[in-house]
This record gives sequence, structure tokens and C-alpha cells, in this order.
Amino acid sequence: MSSPEETAPYGSGPAAAPAQKSGTAKVRTHHLREMKERGERITMLTAYEQYAAQTFDEAGIDVLLVGDSASNNVYGNETSLPVTVDELLPLTRAVSRATKRALVVGDLPFGSYQASPEQAYLTAVRFMKEGGAHAVKLEGGVEMVRQIEHLTRGGIPVMAHIGFTPQSEHALGGYRVQGRGETSARVLADAEAVQDAGAFAVVMEMVPGDVAGEITRKLRIPTIGIGAGNETDGQVLVWQDAFGLRTGRMAKFVKQYADVHGVLLEAARTYADDVKAGTFPGPEHTF
Ligand code: KIV
Repeated sequence: MSSPEETAPYGSGPAAAPAQKSGTAKVRTHHLREMKERGERITMLTAYEQYAAQTFDEAGIDVLLVGDSASNNVYGNETSLPVTVDELLPLTRAVSRATKRALVVGDLPFGSYQASPEQAYLTAVRFMKEGGAHAVKLEGGVEMVRQIEHLTRGGIPVMAHIGFTPQSEHALGGYRVQGRGETSARVLADAEAVQDAGAFAVVMEMVPGDVAGEITRKLRIPTIGIGAGNETDGQVLVWQDAFGLRTGRMAKFVKQYADVHGVLLEAARTYADDVKAGTFPGPEHTF
């Protein structure tokens, strides 16, 4: 994955040099494009704090997204709409500090970029400078072209997000598959628009698998699917869903790989039992 021409940055700190070793080289946006060209699938997960980020990075996940889904999964809101830039920045900083290899993408929250390209630029700069993000993600297709062009011209790599876009939940009439039947042309137009505007990759959410496959074959940039079938260049899931920290009803596209809720529940109950029985702390835990 390392590029032969990549050299250590000027006056680079201790993290830069070891990262050049084979297998631990930092994932860059051009690597994702090269993976698409080789037919190698791209892995992406959300992360919102240091230990999950460190673990996923160690597992070799290529991209970590500090999603605005932190609104639901960290801050306990019902939707992604209420979360603010000031709430997401410390999470982004924690993830980027904990990550050695993965590309860290900061998600621009609702209301922080739609008003104008200038607003988008000022918000994205905060994610790069204060959050340490390597790229930003924003929702929208054709209507976001000016924002994407302005950001990429200003040196900020942009991942776009089309299909079902959770920040527009109310405008779209709820969680609904996008691009069925005749509306597939709109999703394709969005995909081509964000590519032409300079996005380095595009997330496609809740799009029929055959439509997502066709778009993936037409685009030069990688597509990352969530509820978009198996023919996209990569996949992303919210980690609390995929690894079972969250319980309850899951979307059809979620596969559960672990029962982290069950493990924590059992551990917390055993701890409580020990404390109540007076068996913790034992002599080995006592000074
Ligand atoms: O915020 C998020 O978690 C996302 C992913 C679902 C792609 O945007």
C-alpha cells in the first residue's frame, strides 16, 4: 500500500517515520482509488473515541468515519440532526490521535455546510485543524457541487454521500431506499456530479444493489456502500450496530458480528455481584 514516491514530511514528528513500514503505511485517498483499480475491497467503520479507533486501526480497517451518527450513538439523540460541530470535533480529535494507519474522515453535521461553499470551507477547516481529520464527508449530490469544488480547490479531500442521506430524513419522508425504478437516473447523476466536482470517494446509502453496482462500474472514484448491496468498491457500517453494542431493531443491511452488549452486561453484573458479596477488591488489589 505504500507509495514509493512518498517521503517523510518536513520536520515530521515521531509518528511519521514508522508509518512508512510496509503494512503500516498511512492510507491516503489515492490508495483507495488504486484499490478500486485492483478490485480490492475497501473497509470502513465508524469510530467515535480512542479505544474503538485503535482497535479498528489495528484490525486493518482502511477508513474510520467520525460519523454524525455520533448524534444517535454517542449523544443519545433520535436522529443525526441535532449534533453540532463543537460536539463532533473532540470525538474527531480522539479518533485521529488514536489512529496510525487508517484514513480518518470527519463528517460535517447538518447545517454546517449547506448554506454556502464558504461556510463549508470554514467548517471543514476546523475538522482538519482542530479535529486532525484527513478528509471530510458531506451529504448531497448535484446540489453540493459548488461546496465540493470549493473544498477540494482549497486542499480538503471530500468524501460525498448520496442515496439516502440521513440529514435530509424529513425532506425524504423517512428512511427509504433511494433510486428504485426511474429515480435510479437521479442517483447516477448525483454520483457523476460529485465525482466531476472532485470528491475522492462516495458513500451510497440504501440504494438497490443493481443500481449501486452499475454506478460503481461507471465511476472512476471508489463507492462505499451501506445498504447498497455487494457490488460497491467498499462497505461501511456503524460499529455499534455491526458489533452489537446497540440492541433492538436493526436495519436489513446490518450484519451483527459480535454481542458487545452481552459481554459488557455480563461483566457489569459479575462486578456488581463481587462488590455486593465483598469479594472485590481482594488482597491482590489492595495496597
Ligand atoms: O454518520 C454515519 O455514520 C454515516 C455512515 C452511515 C455512512 O454517515
